[in-house]
Amino acid sequence: MTTPTERAERAVDTWLQRIRKGPPGPFPHRLVTRAVQAHGSTALPERLRGQLIDAWDWSRSCSLEPGSEEWATAAWLECLTSSLRNAPSYGAYTMTSLFGRWSRLGDFPRRNAQLSALLTADLIRYELRRATHEDHLGERRSRSTAATLLARHLDEDRGWAETTCRPKPEGGSQAIQRCNHLLSAGGRGLPAPLALLVESSLPVATTEPDEPLFIRSVQIMELLAEQAAFHLGEAHRRARAATPEPSSLAMLLHATADSLDRAQHVFRLVSTIDPTQFAAIRAATAGTGALQSTGFARLERCCRGEAGLRPETVAAVGLVTAPTPAPSLSTTLARVTTRLETHDPTAAGHLRLAIQAVNAQWQRWKRTHLGVAKKIIGDVPGTGGTDGVRYLARHLEEPLL
Ligand code: HEM
Repeated sequence: MTTPTERAERAVDTWLQRIRKGPPGPFPHRLVTRAVQAHGSTALPERLRGQLIDAWDWSRSCSLEPGSEEWATAAWLECLTSSLRNAPSYGAYTMTSLFGRWSRLGDFPRRNAQLSALLTADLIRYELRRATHEDHLGERRSRSTAATLLARHLDEDRGWAETTCRPKPEGGSQAIQRCNHLLSAGGRGLPAPLALLVESSLPVATTEPDEPLFIRSVQIMELLAEQAAFHLGEAHRRARAATPEPSSLAMLLHATADSLDRAQHVFRLVSTIDPTQFAAIRAATAGTGALQSTGFARLERCCRGEAGLRPETVAAVGLVTAPTPAPSLSTTLARVTTRLETHDPTAAGHLRLAIQAVNAQWQRWKRTHLGVAKKIIGDVPGTGGTDGVRYLARHLEEPLL
């Protein structure tokens, strides 16, 4: 019987032979993903490592049509091989750099929302299936409860459910059905590049059973943070217009609050991660900490401007990737609201409420993150070299707007 590694090696070998003759056809993503999952990228057999680096080297020299399957393969190989090439990064480990490139190819908010909903459906399905094999009753319950609660935020056709019409509480099998429907695009199947992005984006470094949960949760929250940053960037542009339209600003701020709310709900699943497993994952993924998160840096810097710069994050995320506009969105919105107060106090009131909604969800995300970090790593230093939960606690009260 052949092993997943042998199957992957054989398939990649055939693919590499084909590149010498012409276009090699689809890359064997699934087989490679299975081999990575069987070993973890840190313990991948030498031959497969070499083959993947060769495949990456070839694909980066090709000129590929953005959005095509070959383009997605090249961007995927770039992420997958980054730690094999001794160039680890958070964006590559979590594959969020690949997702960002894909989302920016077209209608960003739509693509981003679709992908984050698909990854959430995939996570819920994975966790519910895993829970059925869990012997420990308490573990099984907490995992399946967290997954079914998260499923209430999804709509089987539209992706994310509107905050005002979430599906009723339901059991695990109904939640799985809804996720299946979403992941199969109503039975039609996802387009090839999108299927690749969903199915092959768990570049685990270890064989710890909790690592897929960790990676998926980070991916979903990163996409939601990028979504929030997009809405806020748009709000910033509109707030600086000669006569800003208060209702459109309020709408964008509520959309931001919704993204942060969705992200916060994923933490319930993250909190089920086993601390011992997480310690092993951290040890295997040095150099890929969340301080390098561009989504969260963009979000915070757009809102707070220079006040959102901390030495720790500036070193990890450059100012070009996540700029600090002057005046910041927070300052701009304060001006708009003050001006509105004199001639349209109702609109000013709505805008203030929308600002409060964003701040409330931001606080909630940060508090939950801190709580989860305390539970899972306790009082040890952070992977980014900070003093860990103390660093998070020091910045807990800073509002976004
Ligand atoms: C196992 C669960 C988690 C633990 C134990 C944890 C722990 C930490 C710690 C200790 C820090 C401080 C920085 C450092 O690493 O030195 C941090 C920062 C951060 N984490 Fe997490 N985290 C967890 C999950 C997540 C998830 C799922 C996300 C989603 C993207 C996330 C996003 C962030 C961000 C954006 C920062 C930077 C915050 C800032 O600089 O203000 N974390 N985390």
